[in-house]
Amino acid sequence: MAATSVNAEALKESPIPEVVQPQASKQTIDPYNVQGEVGADGVVKAIDYKKLVEEFGTKLIDEELLARFERVTGKKPHRFLRRGIVFSHREFEVILDRYEKGEPFFLYTGRGPSSDAIHIGHTVPFTFTKWLQDVFDVPLVIMLTDDEKYLFSEKRTIEEVMGYCNSNVKDIIAVGFDPAKTFIFSDFEFMGGAFYKNCVRISKHITLNQARAIFGFNESSNIGRIHFGAIQGASSFANSFPFIFGDDEKKTCAIPALIPCAIDQDPYFRMTRDVASRIKFAKPSMIHAKFLDALQGPGTKMSASIDESAIFMKDTPSQIKNKINKYAFSGGKVSQEEHRAQGGRTDVDVSFQYLRFFLEDDDELERIRQEYESGKMLTGELKAICIKELQQYVGEFQELRHKVDDETVKLFMSERPLKWVGNPHAPRV
Ligand code: TYM
Ligand code: TRP
Repeated sequence: MAATSVNAEALKESPIPEVVQPQASKQTIDPYNVQGEVGADGVVKAIDYKKLVEEFGTKLIDEELLARFERVTGKKPHRFLRRGIVFSHREFEVILDRYEKGEPFFLYTGRGPSSDAIHIGHTVPFTFTKWLQDVFDVPLVIMLTDDEKYLFSEKRTIEEVMGYCNSNVKDIIAVGFDPAKTFIFSDFEFMGGAFYKNCVRISKHITLNQARAIFGFNESSNIGRIHFGAIQGASSFANSFPFIFGDDEKKTCAIPALIPCAIDQDPYFRMTRDVASRIKFAKPSMIHAKFLDALQGPGTKMSASIDESAIFMKDTPSQIKNKINKYAFSGGKVSQEEHRAQGGRTDVDVSFQYLRFFLEDDDELERIRQEYESGKMLTGELKAICIKELQQYVGEFQELRHKVDDETVKLFMSERPLKWVGNPHAPRV
């Protein structure tokens, strides 16, 4: 059987290429580090999301909230919500209240252009944001933090990060956003006007001590890094975008954002929410995703600058196949006999995890889980299913990506009014 030979290959140890083995340490999750706890044996543990929610003071998304979501929107929750991948929030219920009443809100998300390619992990918050845009029918702003990627790297030049921006914007557009409702901008290009006023308002309300406590800066941190949080925070306020929401700041500062992102971005918005209450602007709500693990296994997130750690949206079908077969950490047993007798572990298996993120069919996913855990399905077969699914996901994306030209980019990035309806059943406000 073909699957058996793939299986032998797959069960070889997955080497961790060019990824430095970390020292024993606690789990660290912030905008600049994502790393599970490292034991004395040097082994990285899976990220403990429950602990993270307690530490950050966010709330878990529970069945009750999902039921309310379905009642209010009439839409079945996205597979990310059904499977606990989008798992935590800050005041998401405030957004549902507003949707119910037809009161305005908007979506805000972003990307730090650290390389010219995005990986499948980056598509998680963007795919989810696109789905929220379809469900809520509200304006969306997408920030590209080219300034951040310049400030937080020793090597990159401004020209480099601005170049990455252009290809990243095309990738983001290929996720399927509606140009009538979406404004995409680069910090370098958009800075000024109403947006800059909000950057300064925020920065005036954060002390050096607070920035250090939130982000871990020290005396040697450049002052651009210390200030940057004010910039990422400023797009949480609707009055940064007068061409979308109008010039009446008294009204627009009361329109809140809903921010979908992976949970590493939470510190920026925890800080922004604190400032918002002090300057009497609407506090942004957040909805957090878990990380898609690197190919090497639980505890690390994919890195856009390490090719072997991730499946990229520009990878060819054969690159996807090779990466999964060669690197994807397996939850299977070392010998086929042992695997048949004891079954594999889906909780640590990277191929299974990728299917959990990207395979739409709940019943099919459950069938795979049972067969792998019982030993009926071998690692090679599981990898083959994962490869096929990712080749299709990436292939469909590439078809759309080819159609995105410079004119389309210009349209999405131009300052212009947007058109949206919101909740069609709500009383008009
Ligand atoms: P960046 O470019 O590091 O990441 C972009 C978005 O992708 C999420 N993400 C992941 N999600 C799942 N699995 C992964 N392996 C994975 N890696 C990254 C990030 O959490 C993020 O949502 N400073 C930000 C840019 C930004 C932003 C925002 C993000 C500006 N404003 C508002 C979210 C919301 C950055 O560098 O993201
Ligand atoms: N209620 C607003 C109107 O009819 C429209 C609206 C609904 C809206 N959802 C929104 C406006 C979100 C801004 C953001 O004019």
